[in-house]
Amino acid sequence: FRIAVLASGRGSNLAALIQAHRAGQLPAELALVGSDKANAGALELAAEAGIETFVLRQRDFDSRRDFDFALFDQLAKANIDLLVLAGFMRIIDGDALRPWVGRMINIHPSLLPKYRGLHTHRRALEAGDREHGASVHYVTAELDGGPVIAQSRLAIESGDTEQTLAQRLLVQEHQLLPAVAAWIAEGRLTLDPPDRIRLDGVE
Ligand code: GRF
Repeated sequence: FRIAVLASGRGSNLAALIQAHRAGQLPAELALVGSDKANAGALELAAEAGIETFVLRQRDFDSRRDFDFALFDQLAKANIDLLVLAGFMRIIDGDALRPWVGRMINIHPSLLPKYRGLHTHRRALEAGDREHGASVHYVTAELDGGPVIAQSRLAIESGDTEQTLAQRLLVQEHQLLPAVAAWIAEGRLTLDPPDRIRLDGVE
């Protein structure tokens, strides 16, 4: 079972996947890491772990759509079974991603359907929420809108700032994402189109 990870930034969620794999908790090969940013920390982490990497830069393509089709081309060539978006900061073209629905997951730092998009910690604080969390969901053409697989919750404390909240949540993200990836690699979790999630036969 071959997993590819796409990341635009530091890559701490990728690190968590690598860690889980080393600990024998992720029965899959981390086969490929791709990025839209040549300086992404995630690429360095991947290289250190001996994982093949690639970079696609938007400026080398005429349109966003061309970029996205080239991206999935790379992944198809690598025989990827599951694509994990871990801080990949692009909105992917709906037509390009359609063949991957059911084989692509994303981690998003909010309790979806709350706070799709950016600045989720700030928005949770500004709304006066008492809890916050992270969600792993299947990716569909709707931004942060695909079926939610699993969530991790945490209490917002008085005195929390965007930074403290992000920091505490990240620790939980690092548990959540490898756990969901493992369920999929083990064949325990599937998406029956369009939106029915099954875990070990349970809906
Ligand atoms: C995480 O907060 C993730 O939920 C969000 O982007 C951030 C990525 O962090 N989608 P990292 O690059 O994995 O450290």
